[in-house]
Amino acid sequence: MTILELKGLGRNFGENVAVNSIDIDIKKGQIRGLIGPNGSGKTTIFNLISGFIQPTRGKVIFQGEDITGLAPHRVAKRGIARTFQLTALFKEMTVLENVMMACHLHVRATLWEQFWRDKRTRREEKEIEEKAVALLDVMGISNMKDETAGDLPHGHQAALGIANVLATEPKLIMLDEPVGGMNPTETAETMERIQLVRERGITVFLVEHDMRAVTTTCDEITCINFGNKLTEGTPDAVCRHPEVIDAYLGGDVNACSV
Ligand SMILES: Nc1ncnc2c1ncn2[C@@H]1O[C@H](COP(=O)(O)OP(=O)(O)OP(=O)(O)O)[C@@H](O)[C@H]1O
Ligand SMILES: [Mg+2]
Repeated sequence: MTILELKGLGRNFGENVAVNSIDIDIKKGQIRGLIGPNGSGKTTIFNLISGFIQPTRGKVIFQGEDITGLAPHRVAKRGIARTFQLTALFKEMTVLENVMMACHLHVRATLWEQFWRDKRTRREEKEIEEKAVALLDVMGISNMKDETAGDLPHGHQAALGIANVLATEPKLIMLDEPVGGMNPTETAETMERIQLVRERGITVFLVEHDMRAVTTTCDEITCINFGNKLTEGTPDAVCRHPEVIDAYLGGDVNACSV
């Protein structure tokens, strides 16, 4: 069953055709990778889906409904979440407080004051704390719940970023370069956590340049170039595609050992 469908989606920036006309079908529960050279339009596609920018042409269909051009908060409400750069964390708060904050913003948008002090919300707070710890558990970092978020190593901050996003109970999450700047160990851990997210029934759409990470984690990969789809399919098929080897892998047939 398809959860997200892009139909002839495109965006120009003046004369620059950042995304030409993209058709992508993402099945519910899959991990789909989006790869392509720098400037090929990957982040623009994410921005178009999440409503941060408007398409010049085409449609975004989510769960059978046309969500083209909806404002970001409305797209989020439908169940599409995306992670932001690590700077989106509340670095001076603890790990647990971060996720509780994210849960709280989802449960009810009230003032901070009420969150921390109002007796009537105590029970709700307890429930939120339990939910937050459960999410940290999924991401494998509940043992760090009392540490200051900004002090965590890269990989664990990324896990916290994903936990924050899961707090909004999304159906689809979009990750733009989730292992960018990580060492191999952090990369492997983060990719494992992304698989745990999928095991919760959440569909994952991710952009990543680390080909090993992409090929070992994704069910299917879409490769774009100059705002057009080059090919898509299993990691194995995409890695063997001559145009992908040429346009993206720099002619190296062994760039991704699947
Ligand atoms: N807000 C914007 N205004 C003008 N041009 C933009 C804007 N956003 C993206 N572009 C242009 O659109 C094209 C696609 O950029 P995009 O950021 O989507 O590429 P990308 O595939 O994510 O690249 P990278 O791998 O480097 O992150 C580029 O030519 C870029 O300069
Ligand atoms: Mg990008």
